[in-house]
Amino acid sequence: MRGLKEKRVLITGGARGIGAATASRFVDEGAHVVVLDVDEEACQRIEDEIPLLSGTIRADVSDHKAVIRAFRELDELLKGLDILINNAGISIRHSFMKITPEEWQRVMDVNLNGIFFVAQQAAQRMLADNGGVILNMGSTNGLMGYPFYADYNASKAGVIELTRSMALELAPTVRVNVICPGYILTPMQEAEYTPEMLRECESKIPLRRLGKPEEVAALFAFLASNEAQYITGQIFVIDGGEITGGLASR
Ligand SMILES: NC(=O)c1ccc[n+]([C@@H]2O[C@H](COP(=O)([O-])OP(=O)(O)OC[C@H]3O[C@@H](n4cnc5c(N)ncnc54)[C@H](O)[C@@H]3O)[C@@H](O)[C@H]2O)c1
Repeated sequence: MRGLKEKRVLITGGARGIGAATASRFVDEGAHVVVLDVDEEACQRIEDEIPLLSGTIRADVSDHKAVIRAFRELDELLKGLDILINNAGISIRHSFMKITPEEWQRVMDVNLNGIFFVAQQAAQRMLADNGGVILNMGSTNGLMGYPFYADYNASKAGVIELTRSMALELAPTVRVNVICPGYILTPMQEAEYTPEMLRECESKIPLRRLGKPEEVAALFAFLASNEAQYITGQIFVIDGGEITGGLASR
């Protein structure tokens, strides 16, 4: 991909799943990659798995003060930031009537407040440096209704609108887009779906399979690269065709 070599990249939630695959992809592209994640063990694992990583930072994106401290660490490690993959997120499978205020709050804190806290710190540096790319992690759940994920869906819809607003205010210096994956096989999915549930999902997806983290990483790489220089404020769905048509027809 053109224009990723030597770029300074931060990936939140980069120690596992889609974030880890994206870290690996950007390192392969010759970028300097730092992973920020709350999971200490997973951070150690990713350091072993990707020896060319420029570093890992332990922080909870939902904690504003921790995010500010994390960016000070990042300044030491990379001396600036060209690309933010704003990916950290959580989900809880539960019915709308059983969501507790604490669960609702935690999902909003990580998935929406966390995206905002990190994006604001990144944008400060990018505006001062006269350029940058921010890619926020949304979901098809932010575009359609899905049962058992009301809090998650609302948080991801918020990320989509936040992205549009950021793109307008940060243009023409910083490009901002949102990626909306459908079903991607990661530890997040494996924790909440049985193999039977996953097979059922696959049968309803036009491309007849779940997505791979590497396929989402490739979309991040394209959107961060110079190939996407004229793209900002957009929503990119990567879902094997899932939301193209009505599921009832299957
Ligand atoms: N897997 C999918 O099908 C799918 C689909 C659409 C969107 N997404 C989104 O993609 C992102 C990554 O999902 P995944 O499937 O790779 O999940 P995952 O659970 O495999 O990985 C998420 C990573 O984020 C980290 N994390 C969680 N909370 C954090 C916090 N408060 N601060 C810092 N790091 C934190 C975790 O430690 C983990 O390393 C999430 O935002 C998720 O909502 C996933």
